Amino acid sequence: MEKREQLYEGKAKRVYATDDPEVVIVDYKDDATAFDGTKRGTILGKGAINNRMTNFLMEKLEAEGVPTHYIRQLSDRETAVKRVRIVPLEVIVRNISAGSFSKRFGVEEGRRFDSPTLEFSYKNDALHDPLMNAYHAVALKLATWKEIDIIRDYAFQVNDFLKETLLQCGVTLVDFKLEFGKTADGTIVLADEISPDTCRFWDARTGEKLDKDRFRRDLGDPEGAYREMARRLLGD
Ligand code: TMP
Ligand code: ASP
Repeated sequence: MEKREQLYEGKAKRVYATDDPEVVIVDYKDDATAFDGTKRGTILGKGAINNRMTNFLMEKLEAEGVPTHYIRQLSDRETAVKRVRIVPLEVIVRNISAGSFSKRFGVEEGRRFDSPTLEFSYKNDALHDPLMNAYHAVALKLATWKEIDIIRDYAFQVNDFLKETLLQCGVTLVDFKLEFGKTADGTIVLADEISPDTCRFWDARTGEKLDKDRFRRDLGDPEGAYREMARRLLGD
């Protein structure tokens, strides 16, 4: 497969065209941002860890019946994926209160829910990714009701799988963000990444944070947290 021109540069990844119009290459960076890109830094080794962790999990999710954009890993930082049109919704599942949920509703972090919650944010940096419900998304034609139903079902399926997989590694899955895309034939597939950038992982025993909150909140040694997650999940 031939890597061609850069199509897009996001905060954590670059996307390149290939000689196949249905395939693009994602290239993971070590750049880290938070708070709409106002806080910037580097987490050395992050790109390679996020690439390998995402691919490992997406391969397993495919086997569980969740279609994904994943095709194959090309290098430590590069992966071939299906070209999709991203549905501009951040799909957030929560098992335990933390982050913006705790802030918005005035509850402490760490409250375990009897069943997971699901919410959408409109992917729009200029508007600061506002919270959006399904009616709003349908009204703005970001997705159809049928697509919303599919996305919700996949998101909870991902949660069931991830929660169990992580628990076996001694990690509690607090919450995470997914993005979905539509392939040329209109199929909804899981896209983007599943990594410490996009999930909250707490050590099941000590509660230690093993994710990007170490960077967002200046808790120290974010590199160590990413490496520890790679060790537990990928056996690095
Ligand atoms: P939140 O509590 O800040 O809304 O974050 C919920 C989850 O979504 C958390 O696991 C981190 C992830 N997330 C992203 O992947 N990208 C983002 O831009 C934000 C704000 C959160
Ligand atoms: N990646 C997001 C940003 O830069 C925020 C986050 O993950 O906290 O704005």
